[in-house]
Amino acid sequence: MSARSEKADGVPEQSGAPALALRRIGKAFGQVKALARVDLAAYPGEIHFIVGDNGAGKSTTLKILSGIYQADEGEVLIHQQPVHMRDASEAHRHGIAVVHQDLALVECLDVATNMALGAIPRRGRFMLDRARMERDAAEVLANLKIRVGSVRTQIGLLSGGERQIVAIARAVRMNLPIILLDEPTAALGVRETAHVGDILDELRRQGKTVICISHDLEFVFAHADRITVMRLGNSVATLMRRNTTRDEVVGMITGTIEALDPERAGAA
Ligand SMILES: Nc1ncnc2c1ncn2[C@@H]1O[C@H](COP(=O)(O)OP(=O)(O)OP(=O)(O)O)[C@@H](O)[C@H]1O
Ligand SMILES: [Mg+2]
Repeated sequence: MSARSEKADGVPEQSGAPALALRRIGKAFGQVKALARVDLAAYPGEIHFIVGDNGAGKSTTLKILSGIYQADEGEVLIHQQPVHMRDASEAHRHGIAVVHQDLALVECLDVATNMALGAIPRRGRFMLDRARMERDAAEVLANLKIRVGSVRTQIGLLSGGERQIVAIARAVRMNLPIILLDEPTAALGVRETAHVGDILDELRRQGKTVICISHDLEFVFAHADRITVMRLGNSVATLMRRNTTRDEVVGMITGTIEALDPERAGAA
């Protein structure tokens, strides 16, 4: 049974189990209840978008999926096994790469070093293999058809859009099965946005599990398989892209549409 087939009742049938899932996640920061109840299930070979207004809890959700925050309530499941990730390196060990909204690049270092962070090539025990680092970075960028001048350029000298592309390239380079992106196109022009879309489509072809936050509904509808709408700290619906419309998603983001016909939900 293919991942895209549907059962008779119209509910999408999955050939595989979710690679990554959240069950009834709650999270507070002091008095602020950032997440009330979040359910989500992301599948291999799919691009799963999270949409919602500012402050809906999207980044907090992603940070729980990437081990940066720990949930107060609920479960994080990787390949259906509950996990307790205490930090980002544990998420990495579980096969999760992340591109954060606040890009986390080191401004004073160059493109090649930033791309290698976390996996710096060495010669012998201590020597940094500078030539290999530059070759690796150039190769990854070329494979992704990304041009940023020289890999020796300091990150701080790149434009916001170029930095964003480098952060995405760094995550893709890790070649992990799950990739999470928080607003990867926020600083990008039309052409670069399309380029990031191509990269996401390629990750889907490779069978990766992609979760992406975006406010750009045109981008979402061009690349999503599944869309989870968040509102006020809740995941209010998960919809199959092919069964929904922009108007419906906007209605759910703003709260003018409450009820969801369960037959069309590819829910968690
Ligand atoms: N570290 C924190 N301390 C206190 N409150 C926080 C913290 N992180 C997030 N919040 C609050 O939690 C809520 C959700 O924030 P979050 O960043 O997840 O929203 P978002 O959906 O990503 O918004 P945006 O679209 O603006 O990026 C907001 O009210 C925010 O102020
Ligand atoms: Mg955010």
